Amino acid sequence: IKKIGVLTSGGDAPGMNAAIRAVARTCAYHQIECVGIYRGYQGLIEGDFEDLSARSVRNIINRGGTFLKSARSQEFKTKEGRAKAHEQLIKNQIDALVLIGGDGTFTGGMLFNEEYNFPIIGIPGTIDNDIDGTMYTLGYDTALNTVVDAIDRIRDTASSHDRLFFIEVMGRDCGHIALNAGLGAGAEEILIPEANRGLEQLLESLERSRNTGKSSSIVVVAEGDKTGKSVFQLAEYVEENLPNYDIRVSVLGHMQRGGAPTCFDRVLASRMGVKAVESLMEGKSNYMVGMIKDEIVITPIVDAIKGKSSVDSDLMRVCEIMST
Ligand code: F6P
Repeated sequence: IKKIGVLTSGGDAPGMNAAIRAVARTCAYHQIECVGIYRGYQGLIEGDFEDLSARSVRNIINRGGTFLKSARSQEFKTKEGRAKAHEQLIKNQIDALVLIGGDGTFTGGMLFNEEYNFPIIGIPGTIDNDIDGTMYTLGYDTALNTVVDAIDRIRDTASSHDRLFFIEVMGRDCGHIALNAGLGAGAEEILIPEANRGLEQLLESLERSRNTGKSSSIVVVAEGDKTGKSVFQLAEYVEENLPNYDIRVSVLGHMQRGGAPTCFDRVLASRMGVKAVESLMEGKSNYMVGMIKDEIVITPIVDAIKGKSSVDSDLMRVCEIMST
């Protein structure tokens, strides 16, 4: 392998810059050329490339977002789009791709690999932590800390005013952010898609905690929860069914995706970047790099994109005990 291209695609995540840096520096270390591809697959189709040296990725390990920019390309979903992308790779003599992103990125990459037998390797970058084959995706730890910090702040005002807050967090169809940040921030209730316990139980448990003397409460709601109600409808429902609650709603939104990556995410990104390049050098393709029990491993992409099948039931039990 003489030249590797690297791109970020899908929703950005803190730690993506650190991963690009790791890829570029590992390439430099092994005397392989490295090319940064702007705007994900769209930039690949359009040939929006820039050579990356070890020095051109300086001062980015600490920066949130992705300096290569990210996009969700519709054109790459078409056969014609992928053909253009392939032409660009041939024209620019790029031998392999490192794809940093989530399941959409990997699905596209896998299809491309199938059609052109082009070597690819994935690095999981998404705050959702919804990818199998790794215990942690890049950006997840940073997002958890951001969410905990936001909830701590909301708790201050909630307790000053004896209020009940519904706080919606990201995670797409997954409850990992809600469950872990909720536990970390001491939420009274956590609603996640993986375990819909129903609205009756929510009312009961809020009443129970009020009766035990709690004057303010935090309910963390995963955006993909399965109650069938939006966070605003949930708040209205509780307001209608439980009298004398002063309720507010807060949707944390995209602030969860920004900010400087935590040390954990920077280290993870660096380790994953090295493994991605060295796996390609060993002739491995169609894999995703991940971390399992503190070891950096690779998993066939096809297995990684199946998604995490469940949340940790032990963790859910801890949450239940903590909300007593
Ligand atoms: O996948 C990351 C994520 O932030 C999800 O948690 C969220 O559902 C989605 O992306 C939001 O996407 P967009 O930035 O396109 O609004």
